[in-house]
Amino acid sequence: MKKLIMLVLVLAYALILSAQQTFFKPEKMVETGVYYYPEAWNPNQWDRDFKKMSEMGFEFTHMAEFAWAQLEPSEGVYDFKWLDKALELAAKNNLKVILCTPSATPPVWLVRKYPEVLVEMPNGQTGQHGTREHYSWSSPKYRELTTKVVEAMAKHYANDKRVWGWQIDNEPSHYGALDYSMAAQISFRVWLKNKYKTIESLNNAWGTTFWSGVYSDFNQIELPNANRLYSGIASPTSMVDMKRFNADECASFVSMQYNILHSIISKSQFVTSNFMHGHTDVDPWRNKDLDFISYTMYPVAGYTKGVGDQGFRMGDPWRISFANDFFRPVNGVTGVMELQPGQVNWGTYNPQPYPGVIRAWLWNAFAGGLDFICSYRFRQPLFGGEQFHYGMVGTDGVTELSGGIQYSQFMKEIRELRKIYVPNVPMPKEYAARKTALLYNEDNVWETSIQPQTFQWNEINHITKYYSAIKSLSCPVDIVGEDRDLSAYPVVIAPAYQMVDRTLIAKWKNYVENGGNLVLTCRTGLKDRDGHFFEAPWADAITGLIGAKIAMNDMLGADMKAKVEFNGITYFWKTWGDMLDPESGTETWATYTDQFYAGKASVVHRKLGKGTVTYIGTDADDSKFEIAVLKKVYETAGIGVKELPEGVIINWRDGFWVANNYSSSNLTIDIPKEAKIIFGTKELTPAGVVVWK
Ligand code: GAL
Repeated sequence: MKKLIMLVLVLAYALILSAQQTFFKPEKMVETGVYYYPEAWNPNQWDRDFKKMSEMGFEFTHMAEFAWAQLEPSEGVYDFKWLDKALELAAKNNLKVILCTPSATPPVWLVRKYPEVLVEMPNGQTGQHGTREHYSWSSPKYRELTTKVVEAMAKHYANDKRVWGWQIDNEPSHYGALDYSMAAQISFRVWLKNKYKTIESLNNAWGTTFWSGVYSDFNQIELPNANRLYSGIASPTSMVDMKRFNADECASFVSMQYNILHSIISKSQFVTSNFMHGHTDVDPWRNKDLDFISYTMYPVAGYTKGVGDQGFRMGDPWRISFANDFFRPVNGVTGVMELQPGQVNWGTYNPQPYPGVIRAWLWNAFAGGLDFICSYRFRQPLFGGEQFHYGMVGTDGVTELSGGIQYSQFMKEIRELRKIYVPNVPMPKEYAARKTALLYNEDNVWETSIQPQTFQWNEINHITKYYSAIKSLSCPVDIVGEDRDLSAYPVVIAPAYQMVDRTLIAKWKNYVENGGNLVLTCRTGLKDRDGHFFEAPWADAITGLIGAKIAMNDMLGADMKAKVEFNGITYFWKTWGDMLDPESGTETWATYTDQFYAGKASVVHRKLGKGTVTYIGTDADDSKFEIAVLKKVYETAGIGVKELPEGVIINWRDGFWVANNYSSSNLTIDIPKEAKIIFGTKELTPAGVVVWK
């Protein structure tokens, strides 16, 4: 068995290495580039702009993303002259090029001639020309027309040495909406038939005896639409299926383009797509077939308070690290395709980022093992829907904005770092010993959003709270799917993992018996894959594993607080609390101290085989409770951790440590005396960075 695991690990490592060595040179560590839209600027300025990019330190540029109207001005008539020219000038200025397929923005001739390609929104309105991502992934006509334009581009640039790689579409998604078009309707029925085979098995899975929902034929089924179900949804499972279908359609549209490109272009050109971090209407992991998956990242757009009074200008400390750790483990390679360049235009409000934080984001992205970083965008636009959006240079096209200056500094520093790069440095032992896997499955996010049970439940918030707790103990993290071999991780955490099956529970048990330390949190194991409760005592799937029964759960209103005590400290909670009855041999670590269940256990811990299982039944108001409990989990398992001040993130890559301060206060980082500081000092101001080895 061990030999087999070793073989699988060696093969997986070889795959990672081959992706890296084909497309990226390890000794470069990270390459940095920036978006450019030649179609939006006077061709007389292109050379000047590329020259400036290059002088600023950029190593590649990115083009053609929304340019279908320019690439195919009328059906079947292609024009690559302008793009050829732009490529020539980019190359002249030593910039590699990432090309993008233009499927995010169909030209007007296309939607007028083939209106059936448009999405239909949940409110029944059809998408309209003048935006983006308004086409249906399910439309056979759209797939046909996309195939043609992608084939034409691929053939034209198949062996072009200037082309480094390709991006498919842009942020594939419908920006949070689901598609209710006729094309999606037809496709959904096919998808259901493939999944369920018979209408009886669909009826069973969907629980259609509830509210007279029974179907006798697949053709009776409409796309479930919450807007039309005015008195609640009869079958939450049908809605989970709708979301699974939607994500599958997106993935198959992206895969279709991948297959076209790969059948034509040179093997030395990579193909990726850039998924939005944290948008759960699609599922990036469904595109494991890409050479790698990249992501887009905007930490400051009025949606977060961050840490301290200036946190809204820096973003949540966990955000970039979470994306790194979510996308990198898929196949060991990732990059950020869009990183915020400065002030943006589309937030609820759009504050200026804190001075220096753009460089700090770059270092945070670097430290997560990224192979490339691309800024969105080079020039601030003079017209169009993103006018107030900063670029590397401002409205005059030449003056470097604060973000541009910070990018230049970072790129200069990376060039310095390359000089002292040493290949294959192993991860420091004490750091590797804390390696933690965080298990994630989009199904749990979808299912709990359909039946949240309290308006305060937000699965993503629960997961990121655990993620930041792990990071604040200075642990390396991989966010992985449940199919992953867990034996390489001393600690595995499955937060609110509501949907399970017996095979998964057996896998977890096996992991623990062989010495792993498993942490499960509230809501885990309650439902099967169809979203049904098990016909068994409550939470029966996990009670044997955690060594406790779950007597009930409770939750309170927004302005209320209940108490839980851990290690003599009282914490408050209101969102979710499981009341636990431990069996003999199971320790109680935390206890409720008020409400009618005062004295009941909130956190339990037990040994099982060579490992341990901890169940954390309470979702507390802030993460201090979770941090304290997790710290005890690691310490009990004999794993040393280092608790960091709030807002500090530390990562290691290629022999270098990087610490970021996302808090609003000055802080001192604990750096060993023998360490060599390369950039910065151990005293960090807000948005400060220190790099050492
Ligand atoms: C991204 C998008 C880009 C651009 C950018 C502006 O989400 O992919 O095309 O719109 O936002 O910040």
